[in-house]
Amino acid sequence: MVITAGGTREYIDPVRFISNASSGKMGIALANAAKKAGHKVTLITTIPCHFERSREISFCNVETADQMFYAVKKYFNKCDCLIMAAAVSDYKPQKISKTKIKRTDKNLIIKLKPTIDILKWARKNKKRGQIIVGFALEDKNLRKNAERKLKDKNLDMIIANTPSAIGAKESTVYIKQKNQPWLSLQKADKSFIAKKIISLLCRGLL
Ligand code: CTP
Repeated sequence: MVITAGGTREYIDPVRFISNASSGKMGIALANAAKKAGHKVTLITTIPCHFERSREISFCNVETADQMFYAVKKYFNKCDCLIMAAAVSDYKPQKISKTKIKRTDKNLIIKLKPTIDILKWARKNKKRGQIIVGFALEDKNLRKNAERKLKDKNLDMIIANTPSAIGAKESTVYIKQKNQPWLSLQKADKSFIAKKIISLLCRGLL
């Protein structure tokens, strides 16, 4: 399984970046649950994390959406399942200043351009049998918007949650698999939710 975790950083200059509040907890919990369920895991993460050294789990540390994309591209071919739990930035600065931007009295305008949609790339390049899972963070019309993402990105499963999940130890999630009804998991520890997601996916893998 290839699992991504954490928020990406999109640099403006050598010391400043645009990012989000993702703690990486869900992705890391998923990696742990997958490892415990006997899967070989590659965790592509923006958050440094500590796992006992083992052959079952390998790490790839990244910072930006581009780096996350190259890492997913590298490991995607050999995986049975990709879980995009990372909060990938949708935009990055059009230009990265090589030197630290100096303060002036004028307004500063930073032009942003879209990053590559990693899930869309995975869908286009997936081989038969590969399972692709996405997350949807929505502050309104949670299930409706998440279901649209499931269809638009042609995913096998989507996990919908709200901004209250960011950085928290616990979360409430709604899970939808292709052609299945919604399943809700009310406020539970992310490790419990991760275990449930991995066991639902295993039914598809085994
Ligand atoms: N994602 C991705 N590549 C991006 C942005 C997001 O693969 N450049 C993945 C995320 O890891 C997540 C899913 O897409 O699994 C949905 O992310 P989200 O930000 O909720 O949705 P977007 O498609 O970016 O739409 P919006 O932000 O407009 O809601």
